[in-house]
Amino acid sequence: MDFSIKLNALALRTDAALESWVPATPADAPAGPARIHAAMRYSLQAGGKRLRPALALAAADLGGADPDAALPLAAALECVHTYSLIHDDLPCMDDDDLRRGRPTCHRAFDEATALLAGDALLAQAFVIVAEAYADRPALAAALTRELAAACSGARLVGGQMQDLLAERSGPSTAADLEFIHLNKTAALLECSLVCGGLVAGLPAAALADLRRAGRHLGLAFQIVDDVLDATADTAALGKTAGKDARAGKTTYVSLHGIETARRLAAAETDRARAAFGALPGDPTFLLGLADLMLSRRS
Ligand code: IPE
Ligand code: IPE
Ligand code: MG
Ligand code: MG
Ligand code: MG
Repeated sequence: MDFSIKLNALALRTDAALESWVPATPADAPAGPARIHAAMRYSLQAGGKRLRPALALAAADLGGADPDAALPLAAALECVHTYSLIHDDLPCMDDDDLRRGRPTCHRAFDEATALLAGDALLAQAFVIVAEAYADRPALAAALTRELAAACSGARLVGGQMQDLLAERSGPSTAADLEFIHLNKTAALLECSLVCGGLVAGLPAAALADLRRAGRHLGLAFQIVDDVLDATADTAALGKTAGKDARAGKTTYVSLHGIETARRLAAAETDRARAAFGALPGDPTFLLGLADLMLSRRS
């Protein structure tokens, strides 16, 4: 199947999974105020490239998993990612007004609602994993462990903390910046691949290859995000361009310049491609994802 048709099909299946796992009115629990569900769904349904679900579904496919088995995982990953974006945009963090081509959650609702929508989406990811994989307890435990570790203060949240500290304390070193990118961004991409592999029951060696691929893919992805912030326009990005320089963030662009940043992203992508190439099964789609993540314009 053509790469972009397959990618689009995975995004549509992810959207359908999100629709059923993050309903407007939860059927089996007290729904609580409609406003929280509306805010959660507002940010989820704003679009987004659905790359983390695609990575998870592709990794599961590589191991020959039932095509539907990784869909709840895909939805859970998108919930975590969307929570991280909602919080990233808050005035106390990056203070952004636009996300996925729409007003950010705190602009469309209010700050407290956005904070709570993020909290609820993070929790929802664990609700989904616990419920969807209840009949495979060892898998549910392994997914929970991976997801929780990726979201933790040592990884995603730690990377976000360091990102903010670096903004306040002035230019960071290349090592500081690599720590930030590896954690605020690569952690969840790595987790997506490894969790997809877990659903398919891939052996430890293949999981290690997926983890290595995710690390390099994640670094490349955030370097490209830094480059796009400096080179693309707001309409194409669906988020405010030029924010990093205005906020005084240390990025691959501020530290290395645009051309070197592009070269470093390409080198990381090559490393990810090599790790995908070491996997059992046909890595064609994963290689296509790696290329897209490098050459993307939004
Ligand atoms: C944006 O991620 C945040 C970063 C980690 C750079 P994406 O570029 O995947 O955002 P969406 O999901 O497509 O909106
Ligand atoms: C965000 O990095 C990473 C997370 C959301 C965890 P950025 O702050 O660069 O992401 P954008 O550019 O706002 O999407
Ligand atoms: Mg940020
Ligand atoms: Mg931001
Ligand atoms: Mg950015």
